[in-house]
Amino acid sequence: MKFFVDTAEIDAIAELNDLGMVDGVTTNPSLILKSGRDILEVTKEICDLVDGPVSAEVVALGADEMIAEGRKLAEIAENIVVKLPLTWDGLKACKVLSSEGKMLNVTLCFSANQALLAAKAGATFISPFIGRLDDIHIDGMDLIEEIRTIYDNYGYETEILAASIRSVNHVKECALIGADVVTAPPDVIKKLAGHPLTNAGLDQFMKDWAKTGQKIL
Ligand code: G3P
Repeated sequence: MKFFVDTAEIDAIAELNDLGMVDGVTTNPSLILKSGRDILEVTKEICDLVDGPVSAEVVALGADEMIAEGRKLAEIAENIVVKLPLTWDGLKACKVLSSEGKMLNVTLCFSANQALLAAKAGATFISPFIGRLDDIHIDGMDLIEEIRTIYDNYGYETEILAASIRSVNHVKECALIGADVVTAPPDVIKKLAGHPLTNAGLDQFMKDWAKTGQKIL
């Protein structure tokens, strides 16, 4: 499974990238706001740092303006993925930009039917938002399962990019279902390494090692 990092914070991306944990990056207008950076500048820096796909989101609502913004964002670097909202206009823009060979990430997906339309419009990635469905008492993981089934039924190549990931269990469940990619905040990715029994076991080993009086170096 591929790991994308859901942030526009350069330092956090760099730390995970050095460990080989970054297969791509996703951003959105809220994450750009949080970074306090100019979208074009920070996106270029991320693209220079990371080899994989880097999603940058349009902010227009009409198809023509989305297409214009998408073309401008795509000029930043070869690994740009233009991120479009899952609206009728977003689907129109997806169709046009995919015919130009651009990579597209269709975002704010909350239903399997929306995901089906995005695949038909030529999306490279579909971003179902798990956490935001959980927030309204709908199991976001059911949506991942439904999209996996539908895409497999018809051989759609659009990759399922599970988004709005809030917990380590979200990551595990996406991996079990077979999402192609998860995009998670840096702290969630780092938490995947943690386990209380690892900490307790290491603590005991350190105590016993101190009693041996030995050194390795
Ligand atoms: O990739 C989309 C993601 O940033 C949304 O996450 O936690 O704001 O629902 P969240």
